[in-house]
Amino acid sequence: MGAITFYEQDRIFKLDTPNSSYVIGIVDEENFVGHVYYGKKLRDYRIGYLLRTKEGPFVPSENNRDRTSFLDSFPMEYPGNGVGDYRRSSIAVKTAGGHVAVSLSYVSHRIYPGKPMLPGLPATFGAEKECETLELLCEDKVLGLQVVLLYTVFLDVDVIARSVRVVNQGEPLYLTKVLSANLDMDNKDFELLTLHGSWARERMMQWRKVGKGFCGLESVRGETSHQDHPFMALKAGDATQTNGEVYGMHFVYSGNFLAQVELNQHDVIRAAMGIHPENFCWKLEKGEEFQTPEVVLVYTNGGMDDMTHQFHELYRNHLIRGEYKNKKRPILINNWEATYFDFDTEKLLSIAKKAAELGIEMLVMDDGWFGHRNDDNTSLGDWFVNENKIKGGLKYLVDEVNKLGMKFGIWFEPEMISPDSELYKAHPDWAIRVPNRTPSLCRNQYVLDLTRKEVRDYAYECVAKILRSANIEYVKWDMNRQLSDIGSMELPADRQGELYHRYVLGLYEMQERLVTEFPHLLLENCSGGGARFDPGMLYYSPQIWCSDDTDAVERLKIQEGTALIYPLSTMGAHVSDCPNHTVGRVTPFETRGHVALAGTFGYELDITKIPEEDKKLIPEQVAMYHKYNDLVREGDYYRIASYQENHYFDCYEVVSKDKNEALITFVQVLNRPNYRSRRICLKGLDPEKNYRIEGEKEIYAGDTLLYAGIQIANLWGDFQSKLLHIVSC
Ligand code: DGJ
Repeated sequence: MGAITFYEQDRIFKLDTPNSSYVIGIVDEENFVGHVYYGKKLRDYRIGYLLRTKEGPFVPSENNRDRTSFLDSFPMEYPGNGVGDYRRSSIAVKTAGGHVAVSLSYVSHRIYPGKPMLPGLPATFGAEKECETLELLCEDKVLGLQVVLLYTVFLDVDVIARSVRVVNQGEPLYLTKVLSANLDMDNKDFELLTLHGSWARERMMQWRKVGKGFCGLESVRGETSHQDHPFMALKAGDATQTNGEVYGMHFVYSGNFLAQVELNQHDVIRAAMGIHPENFCWKLEKGEEFQTPEVVLVYTNGGMDDMTHQFHELYRNHLIRGEYKNKKRPILINNWEATYFDFDTEKLLSIAKKAAELGIEMLVMDDGWFGHRNDDNTSLGDWFVNENKIKGGLKYLVDEVNKLGMKFGIWFEPEMISPDSELYKAHPDWAIRVPNRTPSLCRNQYVLDLTRKEVRDYAYECVAKILRSANIEYVKWDMNRQLSDIGSMELPADRQGELYHRYVLGLYEMQERLVTEFPHLLLENCSGGGARFDPGMLYYSPQIWCSDDTDAVERLKIQEGTALIYPLSTMGAHVSDCPNHTVGRVTPFETRGHVALAGTFGYELDITKIPEEDKKLIPEQVAMYHKYNDLVREGDYYRIASYQENHYFDCYEVVSKDKNEALITFVQVLNRPNYRSRRICLKGLDPEKNYRIEGEKEIYAGDTLLYAGIQIANLWGDFQSKLLHIVSC
């Protein structure tokens, strides 16, 4: 297949994606594994000289009196700890004697077609003809510790997936840090792009120049978080949206993470990503192993647009699974913003009836249908239908909804326990907590200890029992607080440091069980909005709720940051009522529809109460969804103008793979008189083809649309929007 080649004489590994090369060299000097090159595809492999080991007396064998100088500057593929490389390490241990040192040398390797599954973890996948894997076995002889560096090279996308497997062949020890990938490379005047936010303001893009010293982002909240996202991109100083070098790193994981960049004294970058070492301590007995989650690396010479395309293709083809992977999702109506906790069968059926009349295809019953939950203070863990609200029972409700020709979906928060619940009375020890310390509440709830099998089994069975009881075709799996008071009543003292990661493994196990038992289920993950929007969760659910902020203007920013790395098909997006419940803004119903069309599309409002003129627009929006969703789901997304940057208007485009069709969304957030041209240069079209804007007569040459552009006429008022459907002719 030839995507990975080992040149034995030169001791060079060359990994080739369609447009990039990644070169690793083993040096005679103690078999250290050096990072030689990652960038535009090379024809030749003979670049081992870049490791500069022939420039002795630099190397230890010729200048051991300055061994640390070598270790502190050699570009390590996977840096050890505590022996003289003073940059940030990727791995650290604690031995029985309390020592931390790790130093790794190459032992052997294996190259094979395909990609191994990572036990218990979500990961990208590919058939034997789609990718090839290199396993580099390294060892610390003193510790008897084996470290296997895994690299999978994809043949259809410019992606290399990396992870690490640690096998302890020596005395018992504790792993206190084990990152998934490290990149040592010369600085190219890099700018760092990261995503940050808060509740209702997830994944805002932030650029900063990489300067000397250390910078990074992280979560120690037990989940991915609203605040920081496990992604970073290094853009070369001269790169742009459409051209130049960009390195992207994204972590396929849903728990604590660390993403770090260090620029050292020699102007060399060290970028790394993995499980956050804070409060992480994993015991490895002799013979035991630890597998890290994976980091996916993208290299492109095609600027930010191409980085986005590589991630989108990777996730669409090699991460998302199940029946809905390539399928249109039913248009749903969710009752959360419509009713909050104040609903019953009658209310839900009145919403469903009106929704069905207008073309909506699924009713989702959100929080508040179980135990005695009439607000957010109680009943998590008591997953018994509250028949005072759901009169006639759940099956009756589902059947009635089905009779209207609609599907039915339901909300759960399976990982949680309310102090006011039957479950807590019976099992107070099932909550994560530290003995003799009152745990901190958040939304008046605690987190269940998913490291325990009996707890996972209970929580899973609660969900499954409800799903088995009626024709339920969709689940929204929510998580509304982050972890604190890290203690498990079951783990022994020397394994408490494993809780955070074991929690995530427990969650993955439960979701794997769910999608296996219910293969036709549409699962949507959610966490207080978009706090667990990450590639790990995408492995289980093809869509994730993007944010609790459904305001069309705020959504432009949230969806822009999300679409930077995630396909539009994954972004949960709904039309809600105005004034918006989060920011109080009033935007036209059309604009709310246009913005939600860039995601999964649905409604979250009381359809029986909204103004008649809004109601009338729903069938039109439904028709638009059916007309454009294949294009939105499968096409190439382009960011054209950003309201975040110009504070004026937003514009993005989706182009079909055959370049025969494109959908352009233009949102004029503010109407500014005599301000500046609203000229839009399109992207991704074929310059040789001719196109028409649907509904207009003029014919435009593709190159005209690409390079000269079109002029969007001024729209009257703020928050106005326009969709342009371009078709080849
Ligand atoms: C947070 C979610 O993001 C909302 O959509 C809603 O499901 C609430 N939780 C319910 O408690």
